[in-house]
Amino acid sequence: MKPQLADKWALITGASSGIGEEFAHQLASKGMHLILTARREDKLNDLAQKLFQLHGTKTAVIPIDLVQADGVDQLVSEIRKLPDPVSLVVNNAGFGTVNTIQDCDPQRVADIVQVNIAVVTKLTYEFLPEMIERNDGGVINIGSITAFQPVPYMGVYAASKAYVLHLTEALWAELWDTDVRVLALCPGPTKTEFFDKAGVTSWLSKNFAHTTTQVVSNALAAYDRNHAFCIPGIKNRLVAFVTRLASRRRVVFESKKVFHKLVTEPTSKKK
Ligand SMILES: NC(=O)c1ccc[n+]([C@@H]2O[C@H](COP(=O)([O-])OP(=O)(O)OC[C@H]3O[C@@H](n4cnc5c(N)ncnc54)[C@H](OP(=O)(O)O)[C@@H]3O)[C@@H](O)[C@H]2O)c1
Repeated sequence: MKPQLADKWALITGASSGIGEEFAHQLASKGMHLILTARREDKLNDLAQKLFQLHGTKTAVIPIDLVQADGVDQLVSEIRKLPDPVSLVVNNAGFGTVNTIQDCDPQRVADIVQVNIAVVTKLTYEFLPEMIERNDGGVINIGSITAFQPVPYMGVYAASKAYVLHLTEALWAELWDTDVRVLALCPGPTKTEFFDKAGVTSWLSKNFAHTTTQVVSNALAAYDRNHAFCIPGIKNRLVAFVTRLASRRRVVFESKKVFHKLVTEPTSKKK
């Protein structure tokens, strides 16, 4: 049975741009009301206004920095003031950095762990029990194609997404006998601000990438079918499959080639 989304509320973290913003558009077009969170309040307000004009979407805008130790608790306490239950959590906020070990800012690396792992875990375990109680609702956690193999120069980010994939698949199996769904969306390169923020501005223009529309449409179709994970694009699915056949040594050295030249070029933008 397809999940009923219309007139229910979804929480989307990282809704101010990219994949999160596209989730907001597609879920609003299905009649959902939205709790939008990220740091850039102006972008969230613009989006809320646009969605109201397009679909009559009700929104709650909660600007929060999820890197802050109490950020996710503040978010939950604001959500608890709203009258309606959360029927879908889209754990989308996340970022990465592409760099050599020596050029990584240790604080930024710790912040990746906070946003990509700790926040995702907290929000998943905060809202799933009440969904199980109602036997309705679900969670979409944004992983990545990097969840399927280690990625040199992006080690913490890729490992954080492997965590997201493993956690989500485990919960999916645990909830098999219920109507509650849990999906890991694992996109390959996607046209968003992600690579600029990761410090590899030129990378996206030189490599194939999906649009956010393609990625989110794939995710919502997979959510409808109660899949455990979704990898948009045949090439990305093939890459994820091949990593299971090759030796781990081969996989990690092939993966090293992706960013090696960029991070060792003298002109690469370092963060
Ligand atoms: N683009 C890709 O190729 C790709 C591929 C696979 C997976 N992903 C994953 O997709 C998700 C969305 O990324 P994107 O590609 O759409 O990039 P994006 O456009 O940079 O979006 C990232 C979102 O996360 C929010 N965010 C980042 N740090 C935050 C913080 N400290 N507190 C609150 N919100 C924060 C940002 O909002 P503010 O800056 O306003 O706070 C923004 O809305 C991420 O989890 C990413 O790892 C992306």
